[in-house]
Amino acid sequence: MSTTVTERAREKTYFAHAMAIVESEDVGPNTMVWAFAHIMRGARVGANCKIGDHAFIETGAVLGNNVTVKNGVAIWDRVIIEDNVFIGPNCALTNDPNPRAYIKKSGEALTATLIRENATLGANATIVCGVSVGRYAFVGAGAVVIRSVPDFALIVGNPGRQIGWMCFCAERLGLAASARAGSMVTCRHCGRLFAVTHKGLEILYEAHPPVEGVA
Ligand SMILES: CC(C)(COP(=O)(O)OP(=O)(O)OC[C@H]1O[C@@H](n2cnc3c(N)ncnc32)[C@H](O)[C@@H]1OP(=O)(O)O)[C@@H](O)C(=O)NCCC(=O)NCCS
Ligand SMILES: [Zn+2]
Repeated sequence: MSTTVTERAREKTYFAHAMAIVESEDVGPNTMVWAFAHIMRGARVGANCKIGDHAFIETGAVLGNNVTVKNGVAIWDRVIIEDNVFIGPNCALTNDPNPRAYIKKSGEALTATLIRENATLGANATIVCGVSVGRYAFVGAGAVVIRSVPDFALIVGNPGRQIGWMCFCAERLGLAASARAGSMVTCRHCGRLFAVTHKGLEILYEAHPPVEGVA
């Protein structure tokens, strides 16, 4: 039997394990959804994402492209995850800063969280809602993030504190967390050159010559 254009458009372009529950009609091509993961109707998941076992993506959650969601992560309504974000196993995102079982909140009453592109959230990290985590920021395993995180910042502990900066290449930069505007550093692993500006840490030279012996 031939299919109509509309029917073809609805054909799945992503992979879902037979034991996954995918109710959303907004899952991008080449995304993989593994066993016991649940993506609710109205959740948006981009292309090339990896959604691990026991992940839960709620109505209203938004994931960009190339996002990795490791096992046991729940992504709630009003949580926005941009492209290329890595979310470690059992990371806890939140959307209500002061919940009570008997006070029901939805939509605008919930508090948004934004995880900017290329950020990493470590295993078991907790992100208290109402913050943004900057581009390429790195939240260590088990950290509890209670305030917004600058681009490239390395955060550990409870409450989460910035102990340094993490390069694009996921290696630590030789730059103090307290570095002032005008400070510069070259990554000894990949050779990228960074400067602290009034806007925060920025890459000055993206295609610096590679360091010998580093891929
Ligand atoms: C943060 C991290 C990247 C280590 O960075 P690093 O620069 O190599 O850090 P070091 O091991 O040199 O430790 C630097 C300091 O931070 C502390 N530290 C490192 N990781 C920490 C963490 N997760 N929580 C609390 N403190 C931490 C160390 O104790 C050390 O403290 P000190 O200077 O007082 O001795 C790493 O510990 C981490 O948490 N990675 C995430 C792993 C993960 O979740 N993966 C998920 C996929 S499986
Ligand atoms: Zn680097």
